[in-house]
Amino acid sequence: MITTDRVLIVGAGLGALYAALKLAPRPVLVISPETLGEGASSAWAQGGVAAAMAASDSSESHARDTEYAGAGTVDPAVARLVTAEARHHILDLTALGTPFDRDAEGGYVMSREAAHSVARVVRVKGDQAGHEIMQTLIAEVRATPSVQVAEGVLASGLEVENGQVTGVWVEKAREPSGRLLIRTPAVLLAGGGSGGLFAVTTNPPRIRGQVIGMAARAGARIADPEFVQFHPTAIATGEDPAPLATEALRGEGAILVNARGERFMPAVHELAELAPRDIVARAVYLERQAGREPALDTRAALGEEVLTRFPAVAQACKRAGIDPVSCPIPVAAAAHYHMGGVDVDTAGRASLGRLWVCGEASSTGLHGANRLASNGLLEALVFAKICAEGIAAALPAPAETPEVALDFPPGGCVVDETAVARMRRAMTDGVGVVRDAAGLTEALRVIAEVEADAACEAMRNMTATATLIAAAALKREESRGGHFRADFPQTDPVLAQRTHITLAEALEI
Ligand code: SIN
Repeated sequence: MITTDRVLIVGAGLGALYAALKLAPRPVLVISPETLGEGASSAWAQGGVAAAMAASDSSESHARDTEYAGAGTVDPAVARLVTAEARHHILDLTALGTPFDRDAEGGYVMSREAAHSVARVVRVKGDQAGHEIMQTLIAEVRATPSVQVAEGVLASGLEVENGQVTGVWVEKAREPSGRLLIRTPAVLLAGGGSGGLFAVTTNPPRIRGQVIGMAARAGARIADPEFVQFHPTAIATGEDPAPLATEALRGEGAILVNARGERFMPAVHELAELAPRDIVARAVYLERQAGREPALDTRAALGEEVLTRFPAVAQACKRAGIDPVSCPIPVAAAAHYHMGGVDVDTAGRASLGRLWVCGEASSTGLHGANRLASNGLLEALVFAKICAEGIAAALPAPAETPEVALDFPPGGCVVDETAVARMRRAMTDGVGVVRDAAGLTEALRVIAEVEADAACEAMRNMTATATLIAAAALKREESRGGHFRADFPQTDPVLAQRTHITLAEALEI
């Protein structure tokens, strides 16, 4: 066991690193399973950060779009809190050196994305926003003496005494090791969502709901776990994870067509390809299920410019042997973002004492049942700062705090990847874009079998989150946003509330 006065931050994406910087000069220890910059979903974000930067736009309009997309369960106060802070954070990232795209007059260039009433997504080098913002923050973190980063280390459990989190169990991420308990005065979880619990996902490989599961197993309340967002245009070439074709392409006029060359979205929604993401994802999924091979056609809208204006998409197409200049890009719906997560209040505090959560691992009430495009990075920025301020206010600043030396004991086990693959298939088949009671029940049966055989804590964290998602989806007998039940296809106004659930309650469903 190690005891430190450092604030312990689990995760190394946007929320984690921004919080570490906002806590400076207070000493922190960042626990990252990978080398910084690798393995965090934030770095893979293509679109950008939603923010009302244009004089003709307003944070109130941004909040209204957030509520509309969220399908009736967005917390209006949270939507206003987050959208009002957006401008401040874009200016802050700019001051730190993020090279946002600018026009000839120096204004921010905005992309249009689905369900935004105006072009409102600030971007970097076309489709490199996540990568570039993360590079800026990583350079800043590396130059900040108060931030210690432990790379190649995985958090696998929380220590709780009398309802207060007192420490985090860690182990080596890349090879088996025994577990080590780090006792700390405060824990911030910022370790991402759950996309990798599904067989088809746009998330980096390690993002498998471990952080949410770890908190749930420690007794923290979880909110909205059934609300998983599927992105409509993951590039469908069999790569795992599936590379993304950013929604900004549709903002530029790219259309969705099927194998017969038919444009299918105008018949589904008046906003066609720019309808809320859940609607487009379901349409793409149904085309694929019907064998009509949906594809994203950028030719008329962008021609050869797709190669220079969307370099990440062009690169992914090249890897798959697709030339987007001459043919449509095959697409599929893929698990992309978890609206649900650890239930937090507007100060980022979880239901356990001394535990703060931000980013995709949290559920703040901003996203409702369907996150508005590019609100994910924004929420991570806003709540990272809120959490940092809350932690600083709650704890006296420590005196001299040495770096933590992590000497892992021998032992440990590895995650059974065959079992993980079985669970991911069951999640995609039964808990995916279109759900029903039979499929959800079958998925829960498979998850329970995988859980019964689980030999290590990392695996149990995954099965805990999978259980929460499937059980809450079974309980919600209606369709709303990203949660679509073929056996309850209507939205039920009586059920327009968020879900608040513990793991013990989910296991009873
Ligand atoms: C995209 O670029 O399409 C993804 C943006 C997001 O998920 O917010």
